[in-house]
Amino acid sequence: METRPAFARVKSPEEFASLPSPAYVLEEAQLEENCRILAGLMERTGCKVLLAQKAFSNYKCYPLVGKYLAGTEASGLFEARLGREEMPDKEVHVFCAAYREADFRELLQYADHIVFNSISQLKKFGKMGKEAGKSLGLRINPQHSTQEGHAIYDPCAPGSRMGVTREVWDKDMTPELLELLDGLHFHTLCEQDSPDLAATLEAVEKGFGDVLPRMKWLNMGGGHHITRPGYDMATLEGSISKAQSLWDVEVYLEPGEAVALNAGYLVSRVLDIVTNGDTKIAILDTSAACHMPDVIEMPYTPPLYQASEPGKLQHTYRLAGPTCLAGDVIGDYSFSRELQEGDILVFGDMAIYTTCKNNTFNGMPLPNIYRRRVDGELQQLTDFGYRDFKMRL
Ligand SMILES: Cc1ncc(COP(=O)(O)O)c(C=O)c1O
Repeated sequence: METRPAFARVKSPEEFASLPSPAYVLEEAQLEENCRILAGLMERTGCKVLLAQKAFSNYKCYPLVGKYLAGTEASGLFEARLGREEMPDKEVHVFCAAYREADFRELLQYADHIVFNSISQLKKFGKMGKEAGKSLGLRINPQHSTQEGHAIYDPCAPGSRMGVTREVWDKDMTPELLELLDGLHFHTLCEQDSPDLAATLEAVEKGFGDVLPRMKWLNMGGGHHITRPGYDMATLEGSISKAQSLWDVEVYLEPGEAVALNAGYLVSRVLDIVTNGDTKIAILDTSAACHMPDVIEMPYTPPLYQASEPGKLQHTYRLAGPTCLAGDVIGDYSFSRELQEGDILVFGDMAIYTTCKNNTFNGMPLPNIYRRRVDGELQQLTDFGYRDFKMRL
């Protein structure tokens, strides 16, 4: 029996046998369980949790998410509009590394909180934002790395463009610009536990503790793996109440992953088996490069139902996609039996950074998106085809 959290709600691959593959399946019962955990945090601490749409923006699930969370966080104009349209009664926050003028003007229709990445952007747009009644923030860079090994996910890496360092603040901040600010924002974590947040908060206190009492809110960004089994909730709650009591600020968190963690699958089938020397390779109808790009970008090996690490079970295969890219490899896995053409393979934790990040390289079709309702009903949400490939070219 699979005991991994990614498959807590799967009993057999045959549950998905009726679906043409490849297909994404969103597991609403898990999504709801994650949201309940986040709602419990809000209730106990008084903080507000937003959905970072960059990770999960399957808006047909927003009515469910919106029952629990305080709103959405956007990376720019389109996500802000999506959040306003699809979770209309909730807050819309936006952070972008730099706004285009036309986008900024339109954004004023959708966003409640607007966060700037630099003092020059605050100078350019702050007055316009204030006149439109928006709550304005500035992203700070606490220059405290808590991640090792993947600088592309570390906004505190040397030379990072993300956020204002204290040195730049001291050089460029003026009393007039400070007057425009309602809050500060930092985002420094990626799939991390709360002791890393606590350490970051100390750096924030050291770097910006003098200005925080002037602020109404502090947004602690995303990267908090709150819904992961074993996550240290007490330290998170301690960090939130520390910020509340030290600076009298409203605390926001904007996790993406934690909202939809383990709440989806990518269902695929084996198309062919080939060998090269000692390596047996199963070619699937799904592609790492197109349908789970973080597998290559991050990189990581996604969990696979009823499979284990290479060599652990009797039959080891490399699973790969059908595209031309030699490196379109999902990973090496072992199975208790030999794979055959037509076998259904179910990858786990596929609701996040997948449907919002996929592409049609090689003319690969976009997998349709389904949701499994809490009562078990499978509903098709999309009807992708050739036109979706063609219209972007
Ligand atoms: C500003 C900001 N907020 C929130 C998030 C969401 O992070 P996660 O999905 O890791 O929780 C990100 C991710 O890159 C981000 O850049």
